[in-house]
Amino acid sequence: MAKKGRVFSGARPTGRQHLGNYLGAIQNYVKLQDDYDCIYCIVDIHALTTMETTRDLKQNTIEMALDWLAAGIRPDESIMFIQSHVPEVMELHTMLSMVTPLGKLTDLPTFKEKVREQPNNVNYGLVGYPVLMAADIMLYKADFVPVGVDQAPHIEFTREIARSFNYRYGKNVLVEPQMKVTKVPKVLGIDGAQKMGKSLNNHIEIAATPEETQQRVMQMVTDPARIKRNDPGNPDVCNVFTMHKIFSSPEEIEMVNTECRRAGIGCVDCKKLYAKNLNAHLEPFRARRAEMAEHPQDVWDILEDGAKRARSIAQETMREVHDAIGLP
Ligand code: TRP
Repeated sequence: MAKKGRVFSGARPTGRQHLGNYLGAIQNYVKLQDDYDCIYCIVDIHALTTMETTRDLKQNTIEMALDWLAAGIRPDESIMFIQSHVPEVMELHTMLSMVTPLGKLTDLPTFKEKVREQPNNVNYGLVGYPVLMAADIMLYKADFVPVGVDQAPHIEFTREIARSFNYRYGKNVLVEPQMKVTKVPKVLGIDGAQKMGKSLNNHIEIAATPEETQQRVMQMVTDPARIKRNDPGNPDVCNVFTMHKIFSSPEEIEMVNTECRRAGIGCVDCKKLYAKNLNAHLEPFRARRAEMAEHPQDVWDILEDGAKRARSIAQETMREVHDAIGLP
C-alpha cells in the first residue's frame, strides 16, 4: 500500500520508558506506521550535550529499544537505528551551521532553559543542538515530524534552515518538514503536580512488574481536598481519574466519576482498580519485552540493520548537498 509520506522522530536514550513516554510518543510512533514510512532514531549524540557521564549510555539505549520494539515498532517495515551509527548526520550538521545565524540559536527558549539548568556546562554542542536536530530530519528528507509542543521552536528552526540552505545554494535539496503535534493528555507524575519524568522520580515504568506498578499507583497524589475517606472527592482535579479515562472501561469510568463525588468509593479502591487495568493493558507488552530481553544481540542486530538502511538514504542526500554547495 502506498504511504502518505515519510515520518522521522528521535528521542534521547533515557533508558526504560515511562507512561508519559508511552502515551505521549511511543503509542503514536506505533500508529503512524500504518500510514507512513517511519524512521525512529535513538539520538545518542544529542544526549551527550547534557550528560555528566556516559556510563549508562549503552544500557539505556537497549532498554529504550526493547520498550519500542515490544510496544509495536515493526523493524522490518520501519527503520529504527542509533544516531551515531550514521555519521553523515554530523557532516550535514556542519554544512547547516554555515547558514545558521548564531543569534537564532542563543535566542531559542529551549537553549535558554538549558543554560538555566546547567550554567556550568554551556558547551558548544548545546548551542548547536537544534542544528543537529535539523540535520536528523533533513538528512532523511522527512515530510512529518511527530513531537510534543515543546519541540515546536526546533521544527520552525529546521524549516528556516532548509529555506536558507536552498536559497543560498540555489537548489531545492532540503525538504521543509511539517510538525505533527501529538494530541495526548498531559501525563502527570505520581505527585499529581508535575509532568511525569525520570529526573523527578515521579514516573511509572511500563516494563515494571505488576507489583511495582501497583506500589507506585498507590503512592499517587489524589484530590488534595479529599482528606478523610468520607470526604467527597473531585475527579476533575484527580490524576488517578485522568488515567482511568485512558485505561478503564466506560462503565468503570462512569462508576468512579459518580462514586468519588459522593464518597462511595475511596482513593485506595479507586487506585487498585486503576492499577489492575493498567497492569492488564501492559501484560502483553511485558511478555514480549521479557522474551526479547533474553536475546539482546537480536536487538543490536535490528539497530544495525536500521542504520544500514538509514545510511543509504543519508549518503544519497549528502551527495546532493555536496553538489548543491559546489564542494570540489
Ligand atoms: N530534541 C528532541 C527531544 O528532546 C529529540 C530529537 C532529536 C528529535 N532529533 C530529533 C525529535 C529529530 C524529532 C526529530 O525530544
